Amino acid sequence: MKAVTWHGKRDVRVDDVPDPQIKEPNDAVIRVTSTGVCGSDLHLYEVLGPFMNEGDVLGHEPIGVVEETGPDVTHVKPGDRVVIPFNISCGHCHMCGLELYAQCETTQVREQGMGAALFGYTRLYGQVPGGQAEYLRVPQAQFGPIKVPDGPPDERFLYLSDVLPTSWQAVAWAEIPEGGSVTVLGLGPIGQMSARIARHLGHRVIGVDLVPERLEMARRHGVEVIDASDADDVADAVRQLTGGRGTDSVIDAVGMEAHGSPGAKLAQTLTGLMPGNSAAPLMSRVGVDRLAALTTAIDTVRRGGTISLSGVYGGMTDPLPMLQMFDKGITVRMGQAHVKRWIDELMPLVADDADPLGVMDLATHRWPLEKAPEAYEMFQKKRDGAIKVLLQPGT
Ligand SMILES: NC(=O)c1ccc[n+]([C@@H]2O[C@H](COP(=O)([O-])OP(=O)(O)OC[C@H]3O[C@@H](n4cnc5c(N)ncnc54)[C@H](O)[C@@H]3O)[C@@H](O)[C@H]2O)c1
Ligand SMILES: [Zn+2]
Ligand SMILES: [Zn+2]
Repeated sequence: MKAVTWHGKRDVRVDDVPDPQIKEPNDAVIRVTSTGVCGSDLHLYEVLGPFMNEGDVLGHEPIGVVEETGPDVTHVKPGDRVVIPFNISCGHCHMCGLELYAQCETTQVREQGMGAALFGYTRLYGQVPGGQAEYLRVPQAQFGPIKVPDGPPDERFLYLSDVLPTSWQAVAWAEIPEGGSVTVLGLGPIGQMSARIARHLGHRVIGVDLVPERLEMARRHGVEVIDASDADDVADAVRQLTGGRGTDSVIDAVGMEAHGSPGAKLAQTLTGLMPGNSAAPLMSRVGVDRLAALTTAIDTVRRGGTISLSGVYGGMTDPLPMLQMFDKGITVRMGQAHVKRWIDELMPLVADDADPLGVMDLATHRWPLEKAPEAYEMFQKKRDGAIKVLLQPGT
């Protein structure tokens, strides 16, 4: 089959790889019909190279049709239309019992000191072949696959794999008080949907980015926007809109590849240039995060407020303004999304033909799988108005 594979920094290709097979009784194999390219994939494309091996199959946002199931898989059957959560969880361990599916103890990657395995996401997360491919082997399929109705186009449901639960969790973790306000830093797909969910729940939302069409998309969904390339100081701009206080909560939907912090960028670039094995320990031990978005969040949130980080960070020794965080009395929550925890709340919203979250207004490009190399480059460089890119095997 054809699959999108990693070959080096900014080098992804479409290769022929062996078709996936059922290996365990609780596996399934699905035929992928659409699959997203995510901001998290851009970290693999750029800074997480030291944790990748050449040929790794990328991708973690698939929707498709069940081809085959092992004997222990009973809630879905061949022919069913399914979305696959990006984290692989068993549904029955201690952590899954707490609905902390991103910390599943059955798939936990203990040898790397990490949480649950993820599709298509580095040795740190189990090096599981991903979903930017014609077919995908789904481990723990007795629990993971989410059955969705036939009929509506893929993009009505595809975002249940990652974008929607990640955004729902970002808003839940932000603990915005009733009728309160939130700043969303970063208006990529995660920021867009976090902003819309917060609006849907009745909150005031201020969105920050520096890409015109991303600001424009947020604006048309009821978000007040600040262009970070215009504002001298984003936190000051938010304070001016909120009686000098800052918003009750801040969602960081940017992560470690923020614009800003040039020193850290240099360190990241150097790390990315080193050969695989020597760079990996350096990357995780030396602080190479770009903390621009996080420090803005700390400055922007009102005293006693909450910061919710959905943007991915990866360093181990990054300096934080502890005086400011302690004195302001800030709460910070973060982590990978516990995808299945939020599906019951999201399903009625995506099943509603009125499309209350506007999921049909997010994807800007729907391309054949073969165009993955161009898609990654366009999405990273934010060219051609790219906000969300979907790859469609078989088209
Ligand atoms: N926690 C999770 O489970 C989870 C799941 C999916 C994605 N993510 C992470 O969420 C983040 C966003 O993902 P995405 O798909 O929306 O990616 P994206 O790269 O499209 O979005 C990031 C946005 O941030 C903007 N930005 C950069 N620097 C900024 C700054 N200093 N201030 C304001 N905006 C800035 C960029 O212009 C861009 O629009 C990534 O870090 C991704 O890895 C986390
Ligand atoms: Zn993703
Ligand atoms: Zn589990």
